[in-house]
Amino acid sequence: MKKGEVGLVMMLITVGLGLALSSSSSRDYYEYDRDRWNPLASYRTASSLSMVLNRVRSSIVLPVDGNVYPSGSYNVTLLIGNPPQPYFLDPDTGSDLTWLQCDVPGKRCTDTPHPRYRPSELVICEDPICASLQPGDYRCEGLQQCDYEIEYEDGGSSLGVLVKDVFSFKLSSGTQLSPHLALGCGYVRLPVSSHRFIDGVLGLGRGKSSLTSQLSAQGIVRNIVGHCLSSRGGGYLFFGDGLYYPSRVTWASMPHESKHYSPGIAELTFAGKSTGFRNLPIIFDSGSSYTYLSSQAYQALAFLVKKELMGKPFEEAIDDPTLPLCWKGPRPYKNTQDVTKYFKPFALSFPSTGKSKTQFEIPPESYLIISSKGNVCLGVLDGTEAGLQNYNIVGDISMQDKMVIYENERQMIGWVLASCDKVPKSKAFLT
Ligand SMILES: *[C@@H]1O[C@H](CO)[C@@H](O)[C@H](O)[C@H]1NC(C)=O
Repeated sequence: MKKGEVGLVMMLITVGLGLALSSSSSRDYYEYDRDRWNPLASYRTASSLSMVLNRVRSSIVLPVDGNVYPSGSYNVTLLIGNPPQPYFLDPDTGSDLTWLQCDVPGKRCTDTPHPRYRPSELVICEDPICASLQPGDYRCEGLQQCDYEIEYEDGGSSLGVLVKDVFSFKLSSGTQLSPHLALGCGYVRLPVSSHRFIDGVLGLGRGKSSLTSQLSAQGIVRNIVGHCLSSRGGGYLFFGDGLYYPSRVTWASMPHESKHYSPGIAELTFAGKSTGFRNLPIIFDSGSSYTYLSSQAYQALAFLVKKELMGKPFEEAIDDPTLPLCWKGPRPYKNTQDVTKYFKPFALSFPSTGKSKTQFEIPPESYLIISSKGNVCLGVLDGTEAGLQNYNIVGDISMQDKMVIYENERQMIGWVLASCDKVPKSKAFLT
């Protein structure tokens, strides 16, 4: 599978889909020896926590770098440690724990853009955040450290210990913060062929260990995270509620039982008409570059898109390996705007509480990419084939040019059209 094709959410069956790891038959994993690794040995202690009390309408805004194609991933720079060091993290609403590739004596790690992280302070096993990362039958039994393991659907995983460190943030008000937050200090075991140049994963899920939950538990911002990804690449990520007017946002409620950001089941419509698929369970996942529909819905969508192209100057580009379905036009294209007139929007329609329909519209720009050969490709893939069973994943491609808000206080997901090119309130940037 190509880089970024299968996203982070694949953690449906396991603990959490963190990295957009590619799958591979190669299983040349690194071995992990917990006994030999004692991160307490030589590290300094972290500085004190600064408390911020005014959490009403405050936000933290972070620029996001990357794109759906060709890079297939996004990254956010966080400053962690004392003194603060920058790290590139893959933002993932499909998993909870933030972790960094760590300096593990005697371990060969994958290359990282920055010197590997050295932890300063362990989180004890009795900590509720540790408990939230463990399987149900877990008992501490006198252990002082908290081991964790996150497994990815494609065979990769992150193993390590839970530590605490200072994160440096600036609120959009300008206030500088340095909360102590828990993170994983670990390393990835992944198929050696899949090489992603990243320091770690930024976990933004619904669980206790996610950065969102931790920032909210410390009273810094409300338990809300959102992102705005531009179809021109880049965008921004935010914590808290200071960047949008709730009344302008389309909201869908999330059933409590889901571990994931899921507004429940949706009906698939194409060009405003029902496709007959009414019971699709949907998950929003920033860790997935593309959008996935379960087999039958995927086949139906592909059929309808092809039908729209009949009589138009496109033919299937069988020689283009970029994605399963690509078309060659009369000339090579540069960007999706060149071809949108040949395609119709589709939408996911959620049960609505009020009068108006709760609809997540996906215009052609949010389901097509232009390949390096100048062909148009369908950025919606067969999720059943990718191992997602019945789940349907709204990936980055379909969240472009919208602000998508994960509202964990009211258990809602919201979206609103937005221009994501400019990061709001530039003084909120990391310094
Ligand atoms: C991550 O972001 C930084 C700075 O924004 C950029 O220089 C770097 O190339 C990005 N890395 C990846 C893997 O996208």
